Amino acid sequence: MINPVARAARAVIGRATERQRLPDAAAILSALSVPVVLLDAENRFRYVNHAAEQFLGISAVQLASLRLTDLVPADNPLYLLIDQVRHGGATVSDHELSLESPRLHKQGIAVQGSPLPEEPGGVLLVLQDASAARALDRQLAFRGAARSVSGMAAILAHEVKNPLSGIRGAAQLLESSVAPEDRELAVLIRDEADRIRGLVDRMEIFGEKPIQRGAVNIHRVLEHVRKLAQSGFAAHVRFHEVYDPSLPPVWGNRDQLVQVVLNLVKNAAEAVTDAEQPHPEIVLSTSYQHGMRLSVPGSTDRVELPLTVSVRDNGPGIPDDIRPHLFEPFVSSKAAGNGLGLALVAKIMGDHGGLIEVDSRPGRTEFRLHLPMLSERDLDAC
Ligand SMILES: Nc1ncnc2c1ncn2[C@@H]1O[C@H](COP(=O)(O)OP(=O)(O)OP(=O)(O)O)[C@@H](O)[C@H]1O
Ligand SMILES: [Mg+2]
Repeated sequence: MINPVARAARAVIGRATERQRLPDAAAILSALSVPVVLLDAENRFRYVNHAAEQFLGISAVQLASLRLTDLVPADNPLYLLIDQVRHGGATVSDHELSLESPRLHKQGIAVQGSPLPEEPGGVLLVLQDASAARALDRQLAFRGAARSVSGMAAILAHEVKNPLSGIRGAAQLLESSVAPEDRELAVLIRDEADRIRGLVDRMEIFGEKPIQRGAVNIHRVLEHVRKLAQSGFAAHVRFHEVYDPSLPPVWGNRDQLVQVVLNLVKNAAEAVTDAEQPHPEIVLSTSYQHGMRLSVPGSTDRVELPLTVSVRDNGPGIPDDIRPHLFEPFVSSKAAGNGLGLALVAKIMGDHGGLIEVDSRPGRTEFRLHLPMLSERDLDAC
């Protein structure tokens, strides 16, 4: 089978001989959402498409003066794959490569390497971030999980809250009438009733209410949460902000977005605190990412999600047993945790038509939110 990307790349450097002119091959390659890199015989970057610039986080102009060894250490199995392509003259694939270096943190990368006869020693690499694909799967799955909670939330709100206020009132009455040695028990009943009420209140947000949207300045949201965190649960944590000041507004609900960021920052602060990290740190960042699209289930539409907000901490990473169920409700590794924080994040992101990605390993956990931008059509609807 001829690799279609290899065929297009041949045409880029290789003077197409077909009589009938094809559309410009460079344009085809740069329109591809899959990162494509052409290395020369010395592993210098001979060509990168737009998606590869994004993937590597470095512009094509800068890459032109670099070698692969400047980005990926020489002992990485990727070089073995490249050698196999050069010497075997055939396409070689690998599925779970880690590209780790000070400039690059990518795991679970699928790489396909193909030779390019027109470029002796040249190797064409097609990279695919399998973790992004997995995150997408998960996003769709946890939408379902959040939805199943929404029915339960409605029942709870209805069936639990009313009797609960009765119990609380009765406990309060007892508090003033029982013997002093039993008063403690009455207080216990009142406190527990309050705790259950708090839990039900938190779950109520899972209800299926349409959200009120507007233009939200995400930097204000981040600032608000940072101040809240620093004056309370994250007073001992150092915050860094890396913001893209030109970021356009998010099309969303401000209060719900505050809730999302707050839940992520709270988890990050708890992670660094519980692990007694000597230099606890949280990095909040924003960026604009071209080409981040998500297909809407049940439709052929693809929504553009160019606004990225990231919350990163230097805690111990997400426990392995939690990972497959991270966004499901009631999943928690904490003694006092309800396991509702991330389920709520998932629900709100789903309502916003957004996407969440997670990268986690010891010392570095990052939650990335991909959000829709305000369009002129939305403005008209405001
Ligand atoms: N930044 C993080 N670093 C390490 N583990 C995390 C991080 N964020 C989430 N987790 C893991 O995911 C679990 C679920 O998080 P979630 O916010 O849903 O619930 P919780 O924090 O345990 O409880 P709640 O938020 O309801 O108080 C956590 O218990 C923790 O194990
Ligand atoms: Mg939490």
